[in-house]
Amino acid sequence: MSFTEHAISAALATIIDPNTGKDFVSTRGLKQIKIDGNNVSLDIELGYPAKSQFARIAKLLSDALHALPEMGKVEVNVVSKVVPHAVQRGIKLIPKVKNIIAIASGKGGVGKSTTAVNLALALAAEGATVGLLDADIYGPSQPQMLGLSGRPETTDGKSLEPMRAHGLQAMSIGFLVDQETPMVWRGPMVTQALQQLLNDTRWKDLDYLIVDMPPGTGDIQLTLAQQVPVTGAVIVTTPQDIALLDARKGLKMFEKVGVPILGIVENMSMHICSNCGHAEEIFGSGGGARMAADYSVELLGQLPLDMAIRQQVDSGCPTVVADPDGRVAEIYKTIARRVAVKLAEQAKDHSAKFPTIKIQNT
Ligand SMILES: Nc1ncnc2c1ncn2[C@@H]1O[C@H](COP(=O)(O)OP(=O)(O)O)[C@@H](O)[C@H]1O
Ligand SMILES: [Mg+2]
Ligand SMILES: [Zn+2]
Repeated sequence: MSFTEHAISAALATIIDPNTGKDFVSTRGLKQIKIDGNNVSLDIELGYPAKSQFARIAKLLSDALHALPEMGKVEVNVVSKVVPHAVQRGIKLIPKVKNIIAIASGKGGVGKSTTAVNLALALAAEGATVGLLDADIYGPSQPQMLGLSGRPETTDGKSLEPMRAHGLQAMSIGFLVDQETPMVWRGPMVTQALQQLLNDTRWKDLDYLIVDMPPGTGDIQLTLAQQVPVTGAVIVTTPQDIALLDARKGLKMFEKVGVPILGIVENMSMHICSNCGHAEEIFGSGGGARMAADYSVELLGQLPLDMAIRQQVDSGCPTVVADPDGRVAEIYKTIARRVAVKLAEQAKDHSAKFPTIKIQNT
């Protein structure tokens, strides 16, 4: 006997992708079914990077097909393809950058940069091409967190080659100015400098550019949120009320300019004692969850206040690469996957497909 394509896709439609909560047929992840007598082969395309999940997904689907009577050989090919998604209306995407994800918080010192670099590395570990833009012009920390020093190269005297570390492409004002010299920037200079870092870096075909935003919710941050083509924002907060208050302001700022909030990360959720491993909620508990509920956004995950996180990131080798199979790296990877899945659910960007329409007065 030979199977019909209909019977195969009906069997597959009952299988749920554990990462999206949806099946592969209705989400069009199922690209092709090849039937050869009793043998079936499938092509599955995920909209999010998930190298670590390919084998698991292939097994789920092939088990479902093997449950059909008289099924022969089954072959499942799983790949990821990240496409550009829509940004604020009227703003153009940056060439060679498919999606920009802003990592923001109202307040400094809550672990925004630590979260940004670990999420960038987690996405890269899943097979994505990832860049990291350190937009914290007053206190750039990515050069240190990535263990990078020196200056970016330029081939034409205008554009900059991204620096490279741990498989990421990176750019920071910290590479261009003397770190010891305090900088006095006026607002417009800051936004202009950031636009240059963003636009004049020769990013190489990025699936994601993670932007470590400057702290605060003033004019600079608002201008950036309006002018940078952002696909989605992740808000980082600690559980204390004071940080939460600022994080709420940050969240509202992105909502106001039409940038979707992908979710909230609660950092320093509880302290894990480095002697005995017991957990203590120094900064209180449940703040991130309450904030997520109040704004109907997802709590993407919670990171403990853990000495190793600080030691690893401050020494240029963030947890996701220093201890890739550890518990903390697992939390970052889960958050990164949630972010990528949420982003894949956003509307796609079609601006490249339409010609620019010019209206001429004749
Ligand atoms: N979960 C954590 N556990 C322990 N230390 C952390 C954690 N997150 C951040 N840190 C440390 O706290 C300090 C501030 O973090 P950082 O990411 O620079 O904050 P921000 O970018 O919001 O100012 C850094 O020294 C960092 O290593
Ligand atoms: Mg920072
Ligand atoms: Zn203890």
